Amino acid sequence: MENFKTVAESQTTLTELMIPSYANFGGKIHGGVIMSLMDKVAYVCAAKHADAYCVTASVDAIDFLAPVEVGELVSLMASVNYVGRTSLVIGIRVESENVKTHAVKHTNTSYFTMVAMDDNHEPVQVPGLILKKDVEIERFFEALYSKDLKKEYRKESKKIRTEFEIAESIERIKGERCIIER
Ligand SMILES: CC(C)(COP(=O)(O)OP(=O)(O)OC[C@H]1O[C@@H](n2cnc3c(N)ncnc32)[C@H](O)[C@@H]1OP(=O)(O)O)[C@@H](O)C(=O)NCCC(=O)NCCS
Repeated sequence: MENFKTVAESQTTLTELMIPSYANFGGKIHGGVIMSLMDKVAYVCAAKHADAYCVTASVDAIDFLAPVEVGELVSLMASVNYVGRTSLVIGIRVESENVKTHAVKHTNTSYFTMVAMDDNHEPVQVPGLILKKDVEIERFFEALYSKDLKKEYRKESKKIRTEFEIAESIERIKGERCIIER
């Protein structure tokens, strides 16, 4: 019989203190540090759902909504939003807490697509998802919708490359902040 698991079974939170060595030249936390933590929490959440090793196949846009300061406590909350056959979309919300004032800010949200792998490094089927709450149904639907949009975007991008017309493109970029020297 096919295996199904709830969202709650793999929900994961990773919390880490932002130490001075994570800072950039501006004194704020490097975006790359946050992205690395996001990859880690996505891995744990995906592997817990899949009961298998998982790799990162793709990452949606990561918008940095607010800077993270040295000394803050960053928490990354991850849930399985969607499962395909071998892939899982993990939604991650990142919050940063000032440990002295307890003020919490939302710094990022993103979606990582992970793929479960077997011992031969081939994609392997993951358990289905039991959706218990309205918000879980909403997230599953959003992920499905976003998957369709990405397919459409890839098709359109390919069209741009194959049907590229230099004269038409030059006309289109007129007024943009560039100088064409060719
Ligand atoms: C991800 C990877 C396993 C996919 O391999 P593949 O040969 O394309 O496998 P498949 O065509 O069988 O696809 C497997 C699943 O991945 C999904 N997938 C593959 N590429 C994807 C992408 N770029 N974005 C989203 N999903 C993707 C497919 O839709 C499929 O999902 P489904 O089974 O739920 O329908 C392979 O590209 C890989 O190993 N990439 C490197 C991963 C890695 O090293 N990550 C760390 C980066 S530093």
